[in-house]
Amino acid sequence: MIREILRMGDPRLLEKARPVETFGTPELRQLAADMLDTMRAADGAGLAAPQIGVGLRVVIFGLESNPRYPQAEPVPFTILVNPALTPLSDELEEGWEGCLSVPGLRGLVPRFARLAYRGFDLDGAPVEREAAGFHARVVQHECDHLDGILYPMRIRDFTRFGYTDVLFPDADLPAD
Ligand code: NI
Repeated sequence: MIREILRMGDPRLLEKARPVETFGTPELRQLAADMLDTMRAADGAGLAAPQIGVGLRVVIFGLESNPRYPQAEPVPFTILVNPALTPLSDELEEGWEGCLSVPGLRGLVPRFARLAYRGFDLDGAPVEREAAGFHARVVQHECDHLDGILYPMRIRDFTRFGYTDVLFPDADLPAD
């Protein structure tokens, strides 16, 4: 079921989400299915449970070709429960981000260039990967949502924050 996506200003987006304690339940599967429906309907590259008002540490992400991010390399579709991130170097990379909870805007955000992440799938099986580039960026963005952090809070240079259609008038990106 497609759920309403909370927008910046809603205090629920600023809360720290709770870990999932029981895996493989119908409720957890339904949550992941709703998140997937909602992300796909909005052409998102990722979604975190707090964005649909559920304060649990669940994120989904992945893209093949995405109209919101036409230049981005593919990212494998992933459901990650109770994720943990470990940067693999101090190197930061600036890149443009948007967010379904911050429609119409893009900002240049520094993120760790390379990281390892781990967590669990819906049945509690461990997931462990290394990622770089856009993949690493998406994971960091989604996991930030679990700690109540929205990407504008990470922007260092506010001259690189603005409306998508003004920043990229020729890019033909969706407005949100
Ligand atoms: Ni977001």
